[in-house]
Amino acid sequence: MIINLPDLAASEAFAIRIAEALRAGDVVALSGGLGAGKTTLARGIIAALGHDGEVPSPSFAIIELYDPPAVRLPLVHADFYRLEDPAEADEIGLDDYRQGAALLAEWPEHAGGFAHEAACLSILLESTENGRRAIVTAGSDWLERNLWT
Ligand SMILES: Nc1ncnc2c1ncn2[C@@H]1O[C@H](COP(=O)(O)OP(=O)(O)O)[C@@H](O)[C@H]1O
Ligand SMILES: [Mg+2]
Repeated sequence: MIINLPDLAASEAFAIRIAEALRAGDVVALSGGLGAGKTTLARGIIAALGHDGEVPSPSFAIIELYDPPAVRLPLVHADFYRLEDPAEADEIGLDDYRQGAALLAEWPEHAGGFAHEAACLSILLESTENGRRAIVTAGSDWLERNLWT
């Protein structure tokens, strides 16, 4: 599934759709190079889930947590860019943070990848002339959610 995101408003709208469908246990795996628009989508999802205010990029802290009641469900926003080995994801306690939460993962490949999980929505962002394009691969848990209609 390819979704055109010609401008920031389109990324915002796509983020809202994802947020509406999002459940605990899900992963939204955001791939693409520096500047591809990964954090933009994550910020849109976090805001759509109710968070009011700034969403720091987790590129330094690696993990930022959002908990109800400020958001509709517990969220882990992670940027795994700085991990040198996927085993470090275990060492920082990712599995514990993920309990009962949804995970928004930038640079998921650096954490070993999540596409094998049925609840993973994989989004590869690419640049187009002015905006972005999202190549979306949905795990089986996502297939009956109306993300596309
Ligand atoms: N759909 C889009 N169209 C145009 N510009 C975008 C779009 N999505 C994001 N951007 C811009 O791209 C830049 C980098 O976005 P960011 O989300 O920080 O990238 P990443 O987290 O992948 O490094 C930002 O200036 C952002 O406004
Ligand atoms: Mg980023």
